[in-house]
Amino acid sequence: MSALQNETVTHVHHWNDTLFSFKTTRSPGLRFKPGHFTMIGLEPEGKRVMRAYSIASANYDDELEFFSIKVPDGPLTSHLQKLEVGDKVLVRHKPVGTLITDSLKPGRNLYLLSTGTGLAPFLSIVRDYELYDKFDKIILTHGVRYKSELAYQDLFLNELPNNEYFGDAVREKFIYYPTVTREDFRNQGRLTDLITSGKLMQDIGLPPLNKEDDRFMLCGSPAMLEDLTNMLDDMGFTESRSNRPAEYVIENAFVER
Ligand code: A2P
Repeated sequence: MSALQNETVTHVHHWNDTLFSFKTTRSPGLRFKPGHFTMIGLEPEGKRVMRAYSIASANYDDELEFFSIKVPDGPLTSHLQKLEVGDKVLVRHKPVGTLITDSLKPGRNLYLLSTGTGLAPFLSIVRDYELYDKFDKIILTHGVRYKSELAYQDLFLNELPNNEYFGDAVREKFIYYPTVTREDFRNQGRLTDLITSGKLMQDIGLPPLNKEDDRFMLCGSPAMLEDLTNMLDDMGFTESRSNRPAEYVIENAFVER
C-alpha cells in the first residue's frame, strides 16, 4: 500500500478570512500520536503540492482534522481553502514528529505555548485522555493578533469540560489562556512578555516557573519559536533532542504554505 492515500473531505469550517479547519475520512491503518504531523496535499493543475500539517483530531477519532491558514497566493492553501465536502485530499499515512509528551521528563505543569495555527497539534494533545493522568495542570495558551483568530473556543470552554469520559479531569486540570496582541481583550500581549513578566502565571494562579515542575511544548512561527526557546534556555530549561526527554520540546517542521 502506498504511503500516500486519498481521503475524502467530510466537513469544512471557516473561522474568519484567514483561518479554516476541515475534516476528512481516516483510512484504516493511519495511526499517530497526539502532536504528530503528516504531509497533506493536492494536485492543482496536475502538479502535486504537499505541506506538513499537524493532525488536530484525537488519535481515537475516526476522522482526521486539520487547522489551516489561508494564504491568498500560497502554493497549497490558495487551493486548500476552496475545499468542499466530497473533495479528495492526499494524506501521507506515516505521521511523525517530536512534539509528543514522550519527549518530556515527568513534571507537574504542562504549558502548551502556541501562536496562530501553531494551536493545531495541541488540539489533538488536549483531546488525549491519557494526558490528564500525566500532569496536575495543563495550560493551553493561544496567542493571536485579533480576537477572530481565537478558534476552537467552544472545544476548550464547553466540549472538553463536559466530555462524558474525562470531563472531570479537564475541569480540574485544564486552563485555557488566550491572548490577543492587536485588539482589546481580557488578556493582552505576546507570550514571551507574559512569561518574562510573570503575568501569565499570576493570572492563572500558578507559581513562578521552575525546572522541577514545569514542562513546555511550543508550536508557532519561526520567530516565536526562536524567542521562546531563547527565553526558556535563559531560565535554565533544556530542549529535548534526539529522543532524550527534557523540559521542553518544539516542532520545527513548518515552513511557508
Ligand atoms: P504581534 O501582534 O505583536 O506580532 P503571527 O500571525 O505573526 O504568527 O502572530 C501570531 C501571534 O504571535 C501574534 O499575537 C503575534 O504578536 C505573536 N508573535 C509574533 N512573533 C512573536 C514572537 N517572536 N514571540 C512571541 N509572540 C509573537
